[in-house]
Amino acid sequence: MTSGRDSRARLHVVTGKGGTGKTTVSGALALALTMAGQRVLLVEVEGRQGIAALLGTAELGAQEQVLATTDTGGRLSGLAVDARASLVEYLATNYRLGRTAGVLDRIGAVEFATSIAPGVRDVLLTGKVYEAARRTGRHAGSGPSTESVYDAVVLDAPPTGRITPFLAVNREVGHLATRGPIRGQAETITHFLQDRRTVVHVVTLLEEMPVREAIEAVAELTAAGFHVGSVVVNRERDPIVTPGHLRRVRAGTDALVASVAADLDAAGVATSSELVTALLAEAVDHTARVDLESEQAALLEEVDVPVVHLPEIPEGLDAPDGELGGAGLRRLVESLPTEVTEAAG
Ligand SMILES: Nc1ncnc2c1ncn2[C@@H]1O[C@H](COP(=O)(O)OP(=O)(O)OP(=O)(O)O)[C@@H](O)[C@H]1O
Ligand SMILES: [Mg+2]
Repeated sequence: MTSGRDSRARLHVVTGKGGTGKTTVSGALALALTMAGQRVLLVEVEGRQGIAALLGTAELGAQEQVLATTDTGGRLSGLAVDARASLVEYLATNYRLGRTAGVLDRIGAVEFATSIAPGVRDVLLTGKVYEAARRTGRHAGSGPSTESVYDAVVLDAPPTGRITPFLAVNREVGHLATRGPIRGQAETITHFLQDRRTVVHVVTLLEEMPVREAIEAVAELTAAGFHVGSVVVNRERDPIVTPGHLRRVRAGTDALVASVAADLDAAGVATSSELVTALLAEAVDHTARVDLESEQAALLEEVDVPVVHLPEIPEGLDAPDGELGGAGLRRLVESLPTEVTEAAG
């Protein structure tokens, strides 16, 4: 931990194509930072749970709450930001509506605002993150009250397809509000999100579509003035055959059929030509997948940001009861390089 903390937390925004591992990587990153002794807030904005099972903690709620503390001095808090609750809170504080905001909520005005104007919804969601990352206060054991409450905020963010408009809330609300509090707030938030202390991590698998989306997202985010911290290649498998094997399968000679049959014979397996053909068909499929993965990996190497690799965890990731992060998640934590954990300046 550093002495003399900054007055705002580092913000890690985790995006990626749907299903590639945004929530998993957010959980691993938050756990890594907590285990390193930091005070971390893990935020989700998609209204999906999954983090609780991954971490073995309580579900994230609409109010910030401490999920776990570590003997390294770390503290992990969680928050599930809800646009509707944020709007009511926003109206109550900015327009001093007080209980009237609750009435608006009941008559459906909130539904209207949040469904009609996605830009407004995003200002509310990112506004909440902004507020938490900049909040200061006095800590146990004194210290100046200008210290930020969190060292880091990890945001389990919308997928790559929506991430740039989500972060560029300023641009999005421009046509809705040319002035007034929403516009002013949007500008402040965008400025905060473009600061060096905010970085975006783009999660992908070594498959064509996720890689394409990741590369596009890096270009789009960079052009829009955001800092991409890393591309995270998730679920990498250890090779199960050698390059020599792959070469022989690619060559696909009759000699290979004969040698596989002979090897199986020697191992005491009763063979038939169907069996050998079926096995070789699987080998051909496997080789094609390995080739595709290396093509995709090569495309990612062209991107001008650090690429980090996380292994496939065959045993799954859910934490056993009462344990903060199971063995699987902890393996991911160990695989996260400092390029990721230290990314935000
Ligand atoms: N490294 C890994 N090893 C094994 N399983 C993984 C790994 N990473 C993610 N998974 C599994 O893949 C599935 C999708 O992961 P996750 O929920 O993190 O993706 P996501 O991008 O958040 O998805 P969504 O777009 O639905 O929010 C989950 O079942 C998760 O446990
Ligand atoms: Mg998710």
